[in-house]
Amino acid sequence: MTTDIASPDTAAPEEAQTRKRLFIKTYGCQMNVYDSERMRDVLHPLGYEPSDEPEGADLIILNTCHIREKAAEKVYSELGRLRPLKEKKDGAPMTIAVAGCVAQAEGAEIQRRAPVVDLVVGPQTYHKLPELIAKVHRERGEALDTEFEVEDKFDLLAPAKRHVEGPAAFVTIQEGCDKFCTFCVVPYTRGAEWSRPVDQIVAEIRALAAQGVREVTLLGQNVNAYHGEAPSGREADGPWGLGQLVRHIALIGGIERIRFTTSHPNDMEDDLIAAFADEPKLMPYLHLPVQAGSNKILAAMNRKHTAEQYIALIERFRQARPGIAISGDMIVGFPGESDEDFDATMDLVETINYASCFSFKYSRRPGTPGASMADQVDEEIKTQRLARLQAKLEAQQIAFNKMQIGKNLAVLFEKEGRKDGQLHGRSPYLQSVHVEGPKSLLGQIGHVEILDASRNALAGRLIGVS
Ligand code: SAH
Ligand code: SF4
Ligand code: F3S
Repeated sequence: MTTDIASPDTAAPEEAQTRKRLFIKTYGCQMNVYDSERMRDVLHPLGYEPSDEPEGADLIILNTCHIREKAAEKVYSELGRLRPLKEKKDGAPMTIAVAGCVAQAEGAEIQRRAPVVDLVVGPQTYHKLPELIAKVHRERGEALDTEFEVEDKFDLLAPAKRHVEGPAAFVTIQEGCDKFCTFCVVPYTRGAEWSRPVDQIVAEIRALAAQGVREVTLLGQNVNAYHGEAPSGREADGPWGLGQLVRHIALIGGIERIRFTTSHPNDMEDDLIAAFADEPKLMPYLHLPVQAGSNKILAAMNRKHTAEQYIALIERFRQARPGIAISGDMIVGFPGESDEDFDATMDLVETINYASCFSFKYSRRPGTPGASMADQVDEEIKTQRLARLQAKLEAQQIAFNKMQIGKNLAVLFEKEGRKDGQLHGRSPYLQSVHVEGPKSLLGQIGHVEILDASRNALAGRLIGVS
């Protein structure tokens, strides 16, 4: 691999740092995966090297998710498991940090409930980690390695500082959400919608391409609401939408595939739909959650669209890119959901025919309007509805995967497979694909004849490399 940017591995001043071990556990969505990578980047100059296990780590970060009750509770069970590790550590004590959306939602309450936690840092401030860690060390009377001041999350996270593994990378382009769906904590944990400027995103992706990245997934809680500052010198053009950004990124040398997630049905601009028709680097896959099929429930959820509008929108994508894989999210058992409302969800699923779809039981989240609504649905009913919905979604997913048998798909090889001599990659439709092939193909796009398909993966035979 060649690179013309300053890689953290070769930066001279760090050689003098003592090596310390950093373990990060990531929960929740892709935005947290991205944030964890960036935390690793921020801490690298302080001598922190990633470790695969919590045992013996100098710093543990739990990057948390608050979306459902279970997700938030997992953090406290994990902290319980970490307590003995912290006590046993020889020499300098282990530092335990809670980052992410639970940190934002619960703040100091976390340390009250779990005193093992040394520091809490929300999603907008993880660039301050070096400073916060220094403070913990200072309070313990330990020597400081270094201190540096930073202004803004993305200023510190300059493109040249990013270090990735593998040919597919996430890039956050938009943060926050102004939609306030009545079940959802995201507007409270991630704040108001905000888009990164085009120049900053392009610089980050150029640097990724120089490290061998071939595929980028543009991230945002409402990524299609993107409206970033136009490139320098072209301010008169006004903010750019996602379609324009996608077309621009397609021009960056080395970038072969572009994806984006997650979208909201109400922010869909014509230009983005058109990009599926005329930009081959935009992959034929769309994650577009609808949450429910009943218009009564959609209104109670504050989704501000109907089932019919969603169906019509999906039809436009299918016109623009025939064969596009449609993915979604569904919630069962939102307050007031009757048997008829649930049937409407099943009907919608039948109509759309998803390639893949996540589905959840409604979880009452403190502080959201849904939590105090009347007619909360019985847990037992939610469980039954979820089982029925998941059986249908699973059948659709298997059928979609089996449709690929006999086709030749372009697969980006991302890593070695579990078995010797096996490679793991992704199809244009985001399916996992396993083939026998040489390691030298990692990071390249190969052509694979699909021979077999199961619910979660495809298997095939390598035909050639592009
Ligand atoms: N911004 C994205 C994703 C939000 S969170 C969007 O608007 O689609 C991911 C998914 O979690 C949601 O799409 C929803 O299906 C689910 N979810 C969010 N809050 C939930 C809750 N309180 N109970 C159950 N599922 C929830
Ligand atoms: Fe949550 Fe709705 Fe915003 Fe998605 S659009 S993050 S579901 S409030
Ligand atoms: Fe969870 Fe926060 Fe993502 S609540 S789903 S980690 S934005």
